[in-house]
Amino acid sequence: MIEFIKNMPKVELHMHVEGSMEAETLWQLAHKNNYDIEYKDVQELKQAYKFNNLGEFIDMYMLGTRIIKLEQDLYDVCMIYFKKCVEQNIRHTEVHCDIRTYVDYGYPADFVIDALHGAFTDAKKNYGITGGFMPCFIRHLGNDVAKQDLDLMLPFKDKILAIGLSAKEIGFPPSLFKDTFKRVGDAGIHIIAHAGEEAPAEYIWSAINDIKVERIDHGIKCLDDEKLVDYLAEMQLPITVCPYSNVSLQIFTDISQHVLPTMLQRGLNVSIHSDDPAHFNAYLSENIIGIAENTSVSKKQVIQMAHNAIDGSFASDARKSELTSELDEYVAKNG
Ligand code: ADE
Ligand code: ZN
Repeated sequence: MIEFIKNMPKVELHMHVEGSMEAETLWQLAHKNNYDIEYKDVQELKQAYKFNNLGEFIDMYMLGTRIIKLEQDLYDVCMIYFKKCVEQNIRHTEVHCDIRTYVDYGYPADFVIDALHGAFTDAKKNYGITGGFMPCFIRHLGNDVAKQDLDLMLPFKDKILAIGLSAKEIGFPPSLFKDTFKRVGDAGIHIIAHAGEEAPAEYIWSAINDIKVERIDHGIKCLDDEKLVDYLAEMQLPITVCPYSNVSLQIFTDISQHVLPTMLQRGLNVSIHSDDPAHFNAYLSENIIGIAENTSVSKKQVIQMAHNAIDGSFASDARKSELTSELDEYVAKNG
């Protein structure tokens, strides 16, 4: 099963670029950029990758953003992740990177957009990996900032696959951003949102009703609301579940306690992703293996979720059918 999962062609739909910065990468980049890092060595930095909740994690995650100083740094971080994708046989990936952080540091919006666009162009050329870039509004900064972010991003909309909503969730429901996401939709950009990661099921309803999401990041709290589960099952709205993220952020005490098997049982359109693989010490394969080895999820369900990830992606129909054929062939040979 482990080898089957490792070699299976995969699609990743929920991964934050700075969350792929291993402590070693962070350390090297800090030294290159003369950033006065507040840890005495890599070991001490690694030790700090322990979190009691989402808020504490976001504070640590910001360290990576402060150490990145050049467009080339961000491009390099992306290329390190793409090399990891090759190792993990990730064939298509849709990644988050928020422009606001870098705009607040004084860089122009195209700092992030050009770095990500350049990296995706080279990932396709060098490795045949497809995908795209999905900036998020940083919800705890509020809707006025989100509006400004959208104004900055719209001139580059051809380089943006989707816009999401991320960061500290509780107290910042999607409804606060209703008018801004209306403009996102009017511009023809896909809409996604982190919802029901820490905050209750009503945040998922708000993502559906107020901002018209096409895909939900996390969504695990949906199980607290029967009507919502029925609705999500009927609509087959894709939900990107990140098991080790939820364990690292103390939503579950252990991977064996994860609710993914129940979500599958209830007929939800779920797939597995990594969120911030370096911080949570698990890339995509490790997340799938963790679930397969420690819960009742079967090989058939692992394959079903791999299909769900393809179908829930924003890839073109032609690319989706290539990815589907590749997966089908792999299962036929190895299943
Ligand atoms: N940004 C990076 N990782 C995140 C997560 N798990 N939830 C919300 N925002 C994030
Ligand atoms: Zn996330």
